[in-house]
Amino acid sequence: MSDIAGAIAALKTLLGERLNTNPAVLDQHGQSETYFAPSPPDAVAFARNTQDVSDIVKTCAKHNCPIVPWGVGTSLEGHALAIKGGVTINMGEMNQIIKVYQEDLLAVVQPGITREALNEDLRATGLFFPVDPGANATIGGMTATRASGTTAVRYGTMKENVLALEVVLADGRIIRTGTRAKKSSSGYDLTNLMVGSEGTLGIITEITLRLQGQPEAIAAAVCDFPDVEAAVNTVITAVQMGIPMARMELIDTLSMQALNQYSQLGLPEKPHLFMEFHGSDASVAEQSEVLKELAADQGGGDFQWSTKTEDRNKLWHARHNAFFATKALKPGFDGMSTDVCVPISKLAEAITDTAKDAADNGMFAPILGHVGDGNYHTLFLTDPNKPTELAMAQKLSHRMNTRALEMGGTVTGEHGIGMGKMKYMAEEHGGGWSVMADIKRTLDPQNIMNPGKVVQIN
Ligand code: LAC
Ligand code: ZN
Repeated sequence: MSDIAGAIAALKTLLGERLNTNPAVLDQHGQSETYFAPSPPDAVAFARNTQDVSDIVKTCAKHNCPIVPWGVGTSLEGHALAIKGGVTINMGEMNQIIKVYQEDLLAVVQPGITREALNEDLRATGLFFPVDPGANATIGGMTATRASGTTAVRYGTMKENVLALEVVLADGRIIRTGTRAKKSSSGYDLTNLMVGSEGTLGIITEITLRLQGQPEAIAAAVCDFPDVEAAVNTVITAVQMGIPMARMELIDTLSMQALNQYSQLGLPEKPHLFMEFHGSDASVAEQSEVLKELAADQGGGDFQWSTKTEDRNKLWHARHNAFFATKALKPGFDGMSTDVCVPISKLAEAITDTAKDAADNGMFAPILGHVGDGNYHTLFLTDPNKPTELAMAQKLSHRMNTRALEMGGTVTGEHGIGMGKMKYMAEEHGGGWSVMADIKRTLDPQNIMNPGKVVQIN
């Protein structure tokens, strides 16, 4: 039995004002960006350092009280909703860069720093942190969900970009995983067990990240296509040829309308690829030439270049706001964002099937994707006054997920499992899902760490 009231009383003594039970604060930590019903915690604890986190977790463990980590709340599958009540631990004040190892291209950071704040602080060093999910998420949240986004095609996801962690386990123990060495053959890979564990195995309190040098040359371009299939086929060939594209984003016609309206891009309302190339002047020129030819072969239009930093920023800012831009097409509607990833050779078929399914069923469903990785999203927008629309969105989303699995893909390329994708875990992982539950039972026998997410414990 959990004694949430007992945990709150003990935490009040421990933290004073930093334990908050104000209804407005609880509500703010009970929201998600998508269609899940609000689920506020019973209290929010504001942590300032690792020892705080350990003390909070120990107190919660003593009272068998659920504990949910919170960054800035940008996750899309209800990851941070306190569905069993308990205490949400807000990591926002742990937002410092602890150290930059410039010569090693590494930074050690606290989990509450956002990716934009990190890059702002890194600017003078000539280094940057490449993983970019669109939202200005915290590095802790991105680590916990194994996030990726527009640049993963070139630089990888959080999996490839986290070298080491400090983690507070369910009994309050503080452990370190990994080292600053680029690679290691030393034992079980606990770092990558924690990356993507969504707060169910421990709370991440420090992250060692890989950084990249600012490329000598950067060029961004947009190109329109007669249809989505032509755009995707261009990408498939480019991937098969091994072109090291830095960004390769599909924007379908509805998404293009949304971006034009929200961010005044003034581009034709047709499917587009938004691309970026990084490297030396010569390699950027070479990559762009190849892409131009591939696009022309598919009936694509001329490339429009954003050579000035300011224009590039405008383009990517618009892309980053795509979720909000598409939602703004239908004010007052609920948004259900989907996320699947398939082997690259199946991508055109997967996307065209999804688009046809939405059109056949009269659903408003813009599609966009990190197509260089075989990853795409549909944002179903549903009228809250017409429950049949949400039911239809769920049905079509279900088909999209099962189709991805049949194609040898996954039900999430970047958003994670949270609550929304739990129902596919058995199908995607088979017996592997029960191994995940075994790991969970070992590391969190009381099931207090973000309970009800990722694994099913009975
Ligand atoms: C994006 C989010 C929805 O790609 O993942 O904009
Ligand atoms: Zn995305």
